[in-house]
Amino acid sequence: METGLRGKVVLITGAGGGIGRACAIEFGQEGARLVLSDVNLTAAQAVADEQVAQGVEAIAVQTEVTSAESVQEMINRTLSAFGQLDVLINNAGIFQSKPILEMTAADWDRVLEVNLRGVFLCGQAAFRVMMEQRSGKIVSLGSLAGQVGGIVAGANYAASKAGVICFTKSLAKQAGPYNINVNCVNPGVIDTAMTQPWGEERRSRMAADTPLRRLGTAAEVAKVIVFLASDAASFVHGAHVDINGGINMD
Ligand SMILES: NC(=O)c1ccc[n+]([C@@H]2O[C@H](COP(=O)([O-])OP(=O)(O)OC[C@H]3O[C@@H](n4cnc5c(N)ncnc54)[C@H](O)[C@@H]3O)[C@@H](O)[C@H]2O)c1
Repeated sequence: METGLRGKVVLITGAGGGIGRACAIEFGQEGARLVLSDVNLTAAQAVADEQVAQGVEAIAVQTEVTSAESVQEMINRTLSAFGQLDVLINNAGIFQSKPILEMTAADWDRVLEVNLRGVFLCGQAAFRVMMEQRSGKIVSLGSLAGQVGGIVAGANYAASKAGVICFTKSLAKQAGPYNINVNCVNPGVIDTAMTQPWGEERRSRMAADTPLRRLGTAAEVAKVIVFLASDAASFVHGAHVDINGGINMD
């Protein structure tokens, strides 16, 4: 498959681990130039170092996605390093598993802030640049929880991801006329630092309920994201693509 990603500038938020790091590996293999952003600079720098060791052009940037100033700084660093922004992967996110009756307003706000305000701020800032370029690709991380409600996930997490799916459709309507493809993916349960604290019993139960009888890997999510950011998916727009082993089919 010709992805057309060689030389493209790909900005990944939450790139310090899990799915973000897997995206760095996959886009790096396609010959893209990488901006690896994370609130945890040490983690992002470690991923950048891995990529540079593979011969990939990559820089690490510390970003707090809930802050408009920090997000603008991330965009400025991208443009000063590489002069363009071709792909944004809106991946940074946090998880919480709390029953509604135990959830505080602060719990609610923090998860919505990172997972939804963060996606809005990064998407808006990238849209401004891509609009001038008359080209771009934006892929955001929704979730199975945003489609069916939280199973293990808290209501705040599920609501934030439902918001990502709807923000994707709204942005697709407004950015499409500028030749910017906008899509999101809805992973099911993926084996990363986010789901490892669930414990083996709960994870095994989720695997048993999944028709493919296992959890997904970060690489399996990243490969679909690369496809959506590639020339091969040029007419895929406003879509939410499930990556869940069949645990939800609609
Ligand atoms: N793992 C799963 O099962 C799963 C399922 C569905 C969706 N997702 C989504 O995929 C994305 C990546 O998840 P993961 O499993 O790789 O998680 P992870 O915890 O391994 O990685 C998330 C990254 O985001 C960064 N981050 C957190 N808050 C941030 C902030 N305020 N600003 C900038 N960076 C921040 C973290 O430092 C971390 O490196 C998330 O949006 C998550 O909700 C994951």
